[in-house]
Amino acid sequence: MGPNLNTAINLADFEPLARARLDDNAWAYFSGGAGDEITLRENRLAWDGLRLLPRVLRPLQSAELGIEMLGRRWPHPLLMAPMAYQALAHPDGERAAALACAAQGAGYVLSTQAGTRLEDVAVLVRDEPGRGPLWFQLYPQADAGLTRELMQRAAAAGYEAIVLTVDAPVSGARDRERRVGFRLPAGVSAVNIPAGASPVDKDWRAAAPTWASVESMLDHAPLPVLLKGVLHPDDACQAAALGAAGLIVSNHGGRTLDTCLATAHALPRVADALQGAVPLLVDGGIRRGTDVLKALALGATAVLVGRPLLMALAANGASGVALGLRLLQDELLMALALTGCDSPAAVSRKLLQG
Ligand code: FNR
Ligand code: LAC
Repeated sequence: MGPNLNTAINLADFEPLARARLDDNAWAYFSGGAGDEITLRENRLAWDGLRLLPRVLRPLQSAELGIEMLGRRWPHPLLMAPMAYQALAHPDGERAAALACAAQGAGYVLSTQAGTRLEDVAVLVRDEPGRGPLWFQLYPQADAGLTRELMQRAAAAGYEAIVLTVDAPVSGARDRERRVGFRLPAGVSAVNIPAGASPVDKDWRAAAPTWASVESMLDHAPLPVLLKGVLHPDDACQAAALGAAGLIVSNHGGRTLDTCLATAHALPRVADALQGAVPLLVDGGIRRGTDVLKALALGATAVLVGRPLLMALAANGASGVALGLRLLQDELLMALALTGCDSPAAVSRKLLQG
């Protein structure tokens, strides 16, 4: 017998539950990567391949998961990655996911391509005591005025930062989606942007952001801006020099450029180049508390988790996402204790062998 929700004891357990509930259309969209899915697989393998070298007998009386990021203290270093069209997973979509994150103290990053108005999500969670960060993910629009308007709306609604995704000027070669003829079902659409405004509907060559357009966005943004989708140390340094408030080392979960570097391998290079200039986050293949610990060891302040939380949403709505986040927090606390660390701040690269 496969797992049922009561017996989901790790993040992987949500996958068969979600598969049983999702049609082929949604499954192809959620689970797929670009090309031969080499980067998708390597994101996971790269975390698995790192070996821990624990310390013993250290005091753990005050062990806890809290972190400092962008000038505030947060309950733990976990965020739900921005993912489009969460109503494909569950009718309650973004509302359910954001509520579960808030209840568990996790951050929530709303996608530009959410199926729910950004104001409606913010109002549900922004006053929740003990919640994590509430950020808005921005795809720059072909119309710079529309991009500015989205940033203003996010700031007015109570979002605390903009996550500017820079690794997807064009979508990757998504074979799984093409095989099933993926399309959005009736009633699901990117309601925060006017129909037809998406760069994929227009000429993406004209809409693709550049360093010059990012510089002007950073100059005018009403909120701190983090760049998501950076792998190269030189890009990381350029972003920091231009005033990015933080960087997310990401390859879009292997959904854009196949065969690009796994994030666990890119992270230490970026961290070495930045020397702590801005906070670093990472995503891609993070499934276990030990993966989170390794990310912290390689220089991340926090991590984002993508597909497993969508699978949990598909399996059981808000309760599924809350359970997934709970399981990951429990695993992270165990991993910290077992390596002799009493907090995320105590984790260093010395915990990694070689
Ligand atoms: C994504 N991702 C994404 N990223 C982004 O910046 N804006 C978006 O709208 C989306 N949409 C999206 C949809 C789906 C179905 C997936 C699976 C992913 C990428 C996401 O934020 C994140 O970078 C990866 O999903 C992290 O990898 P894992 O945890 O899924 O392996
Ligand atoms: C994706 C886009 C929406 O990965 O970012 O599907």
